[in-house]
Amino acid sequence: MTSATAPQDRVFIFDTTLRDGEQSPGATMTHDEKLEIASLLDEMGVDIIEAGFPIASEGDFAAVSEISKRAKNSTICGLARANFKDIDRCWEAVKHAKSSRIHTFIGTSPLHRAIPNLDMDQMAERIHDTVTHARNLCDNVQWSPMDATRTEHDYLCRVVEIAIKAGATTINIPDTVGYTAPRESADLIRMLLERVPGADTIIFATHCHNDLGMATANSLAAVEAGARQIECTINGLGERAGNTALEEVVMAMKVRNDIMPYRTGIDTTKIMNLSRRVASVSGFQVQFNKAIVGKNAFLHESGIHQDGVLKNVETFEIMRPEDIGLVQKNIAMGKHSGRAALRAKLKELGVELADNQLNDVFVRFKALADRKKEVYDEDLVALVADEQTNDAHEFLQLKKLRVICGTDGPQEADMVMSIDGVDHHIDATGDGPVDAAFNCVKMLFPHSARLEVYQVHAVTEGTDAQATVSVRLQEDGRIVTGASADTDTIVASTRAYINALNKLIVRRQKTAPGNDTKTVSYHGK
Ligand code: KIV
Ligand code: ZN
Repeated sequence: MTSATAPQDRVFIFDTTLRDGEQSPGATMTHDEKLEIASLLDEMGVDIIEAGFPIASEGDFAAVSEISKRAKNSTICGLARANFKDIDRCWEAVKHAKSSRIHTFIGTSPLHRAIPNLDMDQMAERIHDTVTHARNLCDNVQWSPMDATRTEHDYLCRVVEIAIKAGATTINIPDTVGYTAPRESADLIRMLLERVPGADTIIFATHCHNDLGMATANSLAAVEAGARQIECTINGLGERAGNTALEEVVMAMKVRNDIMPYRTGIDTTKIMNLSRRVASVSGFQVQFNKAIVGKNAFLHESGIHQDGVLKNVETFEIMRPEDIGLVQKNIAMGKHSGRAALRAKLKELGVELADNQLNDVFVRFKALADRKKEVYDEDLVALVADEQTNDAHEFLQLKKLRVICGTDGPQEADMVMSIDGVDHHIDATGDGPVDAAFNCVKMLFPHSARLEVYQVHAVTEGTDAQATVSVRLQEDGRIVTGASADTDTIVASTRAYINALNKLIVRRQKTAPGNDTKTVSYHGK
């Protein structure tokens, strides 16, 4: 379905996890991770996937091109600043898709106009020229006045009209700094629909950041006023406090269809799996009390709530866990379970693996089942995520680790790590076993990255629980995160550290001078 043929109640979902989401400090994803997330978004029914910022780096260009070639249903969109070079590069990447879109933007508020030092007329001319250029390449062009919510209304109307006349088919109204509030968000869309000639011929989109925690409410308010595209990310990933969360807007429209009578093309049963995969590849763990996808979203602790739910689940649940793909049939999994049971269980959890991946996961599942009395759903999810994150083809790989620790220090670690396929052996001491293991890694692979975050979570209860570890490193402004899970906390920690270093190596290649999305200015021709 295209926007031109869509019924009035159809809201298009534009997912920007791979562009705006990836811009969150530390959320860098590898090429393969981006392809995997794009294919899950495509299967889930996302209408438009913003796959990256092709001019930003060779890596972004390659990812957007490959995603374009592979997409089955979604329109693939790339971002471009308001200059011909960006737009041409974007088109080169998205042109392979069955359905492509160029998204070009410029900051229109007084604060943003001051940066390229353009006056109102000069900027208007730039908008006309760049949108016309984009439209000559692609018949599907989105234009965004960045910081629209802080742009003077008269000027906003003027530039939106220019963009429509120049051929933009979608006009996105970004609340770039998360400044607006629901009533204002709705009024802005209503004003544009009323005042701008030709506004009824295009789709208005809403793109909200969450700095004041109002992104989802602002997006839904804009839809009520006539916007028909919501820009969002899985788990609300994004710059600073993030973006509107896809799962929140989609489930809000589904559960409260009585007051928000809109439809999307999203298969909501795929939400939980995507949320888990994005958390795993971005290194941004989902907070326990996050709406829809948080670990506690369907848990009931107090006696009154538990009693109510047992008698009638609707007393304290407004949606069913299975609506988002969270199925807890609790097939017991243990060391006697076979491959077929594992496949069925993973399917229940929304994870479908190719045969070779299933074999690898099965081996690790058996090893885990030997060590743990019961293997819970959370254990399997952590195990699959770890298998997919810590790939056997990585540049650095942990091969062997032994630590000696206890009341009498110093603690010692003895490690074999492979670097680009060659095994290296080392031992080191440290202030605790984790420090000793990290020192081994640093001696084998010297680097200047600073450890900014080191977090350990138990996946389930019990002293035999798996630990998931996240680390965040920073080197010369590059921020990367790594994650891993294991019943041995020191092994999980070391793997998470190595995982972050592998990402750092990718980032170093990506951020050769002039090649970084995060350092590329949003302005200039
Ligand atoms: O937040 C923003 O303004 C953006 C634009 C590039 C659309 O992400
Ligand atoms: Zn944004």
